[in-house]
Amino acid sequence: MAVDVLLGLQWGDEGKGKIVDVLSAGYDLIARFQGGPNAGHTLEFDGQKFVLNTIPSGIFFDNTLNLIGNGVVIDPITLKKELDKLKAAGHDLLAKKNLVIAKKAHLILPTHQLLDAASEKKMGEGKIGSTLKGIGPTYMDKTGRNGLRIGDITLPDFKERYEKLVAKHTSMLQALYGEVVDFSEREAAFFEAIEVIRQFPLVDSEHFVNKYIKEGKKVLAEGAQGAMLDIDFGSYPFVTSSNTTSAGACTGLGIAPSQIGEVIGIFKAYCTRVGGGPFPTELDNELGEQLRQLGHEFGATTGRPRRTGWIDIPALRYAIMLNGVTQLVMTKADVLSGFEKIYACTHYNYNGEVIDYMPYDICTITPEPVLQEVDGWNEDITGITELDQIPATLSKYMDFLAEQLGVPVKYLSVGPDRVQTLEMF
Ligand code: GTP
Repeated sequence: MAVDVLLGLQWGDEGKGKIVDVLSAGYDLIARFQGGPNAGHTLEFDGQKFVLNTIPSGIFFDNTLNLIGNGVVIDPITLKKELDKLKAAGHDLLAKKNLVIAKKAHLILPTHQLLDAASEKKMGEGKIGSTLKGIGPTYMDKTGRNGLRIGDITLPDFKERYEKLVAKHTSMLQALYGEVVDFSEREAAFFEAIEVIRQFPLVDSEHFVNKYIKEGKKVLAEGAQGAMLDIDFGSYPFVTSSNTTSAGACTGLGIAPSQIGEVIGIFKAYCTRVGGGPFPTELDNELGEQLRQLGHEFGATTGRPRRTGWIDIPALRYAIMLNGVTQLVMTKADVLSGFEKIYACTHYNYNGEVIDYMPYDICTITPEPVLQEVDGWNEDITGITELDQIPATLSKYMDFLAEQLGVPVKYLSVGPDRVQTLEMF
């Protein structure tokens, strides 16, 4: 099968960027299939660190082409900033010719960001925890059949189409919130960035990817956020606006389910979540703060502190089922070094019952986790390179997880750098 899918199994920030980078050399095409610049894929190698928001994580390999798929929503301003930063670091993607963009990807307008901010302000306490990047309103325009797409920038009436949508947004802002803040500066930056986008090949991603498949080339579909933030299956309404699960790779790139091969699911050895919404295993205490500090759990894009907690097995099992995961990757095991005991949630106490699945109304009644104690490991594992250097208690933890989850851990990540990765079998 030609297309492997790589995605997060928790609430995002599992370390997908690093793992795509590690695996990229084995693929001809890396294709981002959903989400927007709320993703912050962090890659570290040779003493350098890069955070990618929209650009796929395969750009550092010479023989790998990268596609921003039709399922992604693109903020031209952020994309230009990413491109500029990469160029300054010696990676000029225009010159390298290793990035192509789907014509059917939707555009985030400056007014989408205003709508996002106004909506969150209005919701007050019940707010979703949006990153305020205009992603939700852009997907709303996509499903509302009003959106502007990347391909539209090549049309002679692009400016008129833009103005028509902006007029709609400003009248909504005026009617709903009584004000429209000045966005002329962002608008100028938007059109400047559109000129940059014009210089990249704009493609029909469905034909593009399927041509690769036909030619027998290897494609990796790169997800953003995590399964528990999926618009259909996450803890609605505290979710993102797209399908983060493997089905999203089909719609977000234009590939048939029968083309999907391995589904690589990434999870942290513990759990984090950004923004509002239920988080059954949350450690809202000193231990949680310790995990946050040790794991540097602050948003790669926003700097927001992430909520932290123990691993949630019912949630992981759910994510594995939804995605059809065939390979697991466990990241950040090094962060747990030094904890004498660690805990894994195997079930929930919910409405007087012990259950092993995520209940429908998780947002109304947060289930109480049933925790199993597991021996921790004391050793610093960040430098290990051989399987026989893995502490016995960490091996036991991985065996325990494999048994609980029904899928073995194929890769173990013990630090942020590309080289801090062990292939288990
Ligand atoms: P989103 O799409 O935004 O969810 O991002 P992501 O899944 O790519 O996560 P992100 O890049 O934010 O990764 C989380 C952080 O963990 C980054 O700073 C990575 O460099 C770092 N990281 C990845 N793997 C490991 C690991 O095994 N150990 C440690 N200590 N850090 C890691």
